Amino acid sequence: MKEATLVLVKPDGLKKSLTGNVLTRLSETKLEIVAAKIVRVDDKLAREHYRGLSKEPFFEELIQYIKGELHERKKVMAMAYYGGGAIRKVREIAGGTNPEKADSISIRGQYGRITTKGIYENVIHASTDQRDAEREIKLWFQPDEIIVDLYPTKATAAEGTRQAWA
Ligand code: PPS
Repeated sequence: MKEATLVLVKPDGLKKSLTGNVLTRLSETKLEIVAAKIVRVDDKLAREHYRGLSKEPFFEELIQYIKGELHERKKVMAMAYYGGGAIRKVREIAGGTNPEKADSISIRGQYGRITTKGIYENVIHASTDQRDAEREIKLWFQPDEIIVDLYPTKATAAEGTRQAWA
């Protein structure tokens, strides 16, 4: 069954010029990129994206990290990949969450690190499951930024936006 997944190249990935490497690795999945943009992540978006982790001891550092406050590049590349088994395929190539334990030829194993403060700088985010993917894609993209119809939409009167998520 075709499904979509959110991929973020995080600020460490952009600072280290890894975007091309990440896209090349992800092209092994033969999935289709159906949305892509560069985003400056504000506090609201960061906290909403990681809202399920707000009780974790590393939460504030995670927010700082995704906002780019630990790197010179305050930006993230957000993409939606689409196709059969998209979530599993992307997570396989991404590798385990902990970059020191991730398969050494995965993206995180090759390019990630743990900082001296114990924060995972693991280069990319990939949605965990279909529920997360839908929530995250709707958070990062508006319907007209995605070239396929993934989820139901509704008409909106807001200027410049034709559709909103239903
Ligand atoms: S996953 O991939 O969502 O199943 O992994 P999970 O273990 O649930 O971790 C969720 C996100 O928390 C980040 N994380 C950490 N950040 C900093 N320091 C520590 N110690 C740490 N542990 C987990 C992890 O990188 C996940 O972020 P994303 O952006 O989803 O990869």
